[in-house]
Amino acid sequence: MKVKNICCIGAGYVGGPTMAVIADKCPSIRVEVVDIDKERIKKWNDKDLRNLPIFEPDLAEIVERCRGINLFFSNLVKEKIKHADMIFISVNTPTKKKGLGAGKASDLRWVEESARQVAKFSNGHTIVVEKSTLPVRTAEVIQGILKSAELDKDRNGISFDVLSNPEFLAEGTAIKDLEKPDRVLIGGENIEAMDALSEIYSKWVPKEKILFTNIWSSELAKLTANAFLAQRISSINSIAAICEATGADVREVSRAIGTDSRIGSKFLDSGPGFGGSCFKKDILNLVYLAEYFGLNDVANFWESVVNLNNWHQKRISELIVKKLFGTVTGKKIVVLGFAFKGNTNDTRESAAIQICKDLLDEGAEILIHDPKVSELQIEKDLKMKPIRESEDSYENKLFNKKGSWKFSKNLNIFDNAHAVLMLTEWDEYKKIDWVDVSNKMVDQAWVFDSRSIIEPRKLKNVNVNLWRVGDGTKSNNNSLKF
Ligand code: NAD
Ligand code: UGA
Repeated sequence: MKVKNICCIGAGYVGGPTMAVIADKCPSIRVEVVDIDKERIKKWNDKDLRNLPIFEPDLAEIVERCRGINLFFSNLVKEKIKHADMIFISVNTPTKKKGLGAGKASDLRWVEESARQVAKFSNGHTIVVEKSTLPVRTAEVIQGILKSAELDKDRNGISFDVLSNPEFLAEGTAIKDLEKPDRVLIGGENIEAMDALSEIYSKWVPKEKILFTNIWSSELAKLTANAFLAQRISSINSIAAICEATGADVREVSRAIGTDSRIGSKFLDSGPGFGGSCFKKDILNLVYLAEYFGLNDVANFWESVVNLNNWHQKRISELIVKKLFGTVTGKKIVVLGFAFKGNTNDTRESAAIQICKDLLDEGAEILIHDPKVSELQIEKDLKMKPIRESEDSYENKLFNKKGSWKFSKNLNIFDNAHAVLMLTEWDEYKKIDWVDVSNKMVDQAWVFDSRSIIEPRKLKNVNVNLWRVGDGTKSNNNSLKF
């Protein structure tokens, strides 16, 4: 079966880049990306490519090459489903906030709604591909909804195949990951449908990297991959705390264990705690699944990965307060980076959110810089408005128990700061002149580097204290100056 028309439901961090790459690699396929979010689609169609809703290196170039040729973005969900022979479901699957399984299970309402729309509007034979990350056996739910459409006498000759094709891209490297994936996973029952999807990927992915599994293994493999990756980060962050207590350096420990080919060197960077829209949600999903099947020890094992991450973030906010003489009330703290990692404008579950909230609760005056995240996004995440010039009086600060925050687009922000806190590994932070910065900060100021951006040698003879995550050596001394 040759696929000619693809429709992708969901123009988000996965749907947008994934479909852009498919369109780029398969010029004979028409790719229609649809979304209910009008604002998002408007941005995908913006002439100025700097306004695309998602920032990903190399994405704009692909959109420029393909948009209007074989790649289209619209809100025409019904029409585009009608004409597609393959439909990707790439909608959001956040953790449920209320009801059965609240706090752990996935909220599948958007997936269900998509499946219902496919059932209602599709024609002939359609291959439905689960691209969203889903709990194991979700395909059964989708199949159930589609089956009732197949049995509907008024909808002559419609039929469906359901495949699982989870996405493994990481934000910030999405295009690279899509163009050179470690593997493409296709789970299904009907080999013809699996071959049809495999043929699309085989235009640029070597055949041996395209894996076929049964549908449930494919769904579970996605959750497991994220759980294993997140587990490594919690593991190394737990070791970072031991390093700080014992005089070891987590970078050296990572290097030493990473050379063991059974362990491998990737995903061993201690940081401020993992963020992103998926690690926490996917682990909690796994926890829910384990609990559902009465596997409580298994559930506890995976939940501890999330608990350690929460603890690690709290540990960072607490140590900042301790190092600043036990109080940050009224003190200016510069926060460098709000995105959950470098090279993305995504802030979902970013460690910066919790750490900034903690510092605001302690009464700090935070000045936030991020090259790609907007002030409005930070306001939504902190659930607090930035302080305006008119409110920025001494009296206000004195009585403002909660602290305040401001946003800056430039890095001219260090005057009279008591601390700088590095939370995202943006390249431009590597170029900061610390001699100049330290001259602007108050005496006895601190730099907290949660991303190992700063080479301690470069701070020799600079009049600030440095804390680096997982550094228990003298260069990270609790009170020494450089
Ligand atoms: P997202 O929130 O950025 O995008 C989802 C989009 O789907 C939204 O724009 C939303 O408006 C749209 N949508 C929801 N219901 C719709 C409907 N009925 N019709 C049309 N559009 C609809 O989410 P995302 O980050 O792209 O993630 C999507 C899925 O992919 C999730 O399951 C996630 O776990 C998984 N995933 C995400 C990443 C990542 O890096 N973000 C990586 C791999 C897998
Ligand atoms: C992650 C996975 O890497 C992808 O394979 C997966 O497709 C995706 O989740 C998903 O399902 O959403 P992503 O969250 O975009 O991708 O980014 P990662 O590079 O995995 O980073 C996640 C978090 O871990 C970030 O906050 C990052 O700073 C942190 N991290 C990562 C570390 O603290 N240390 C590391 O060594 C690596």
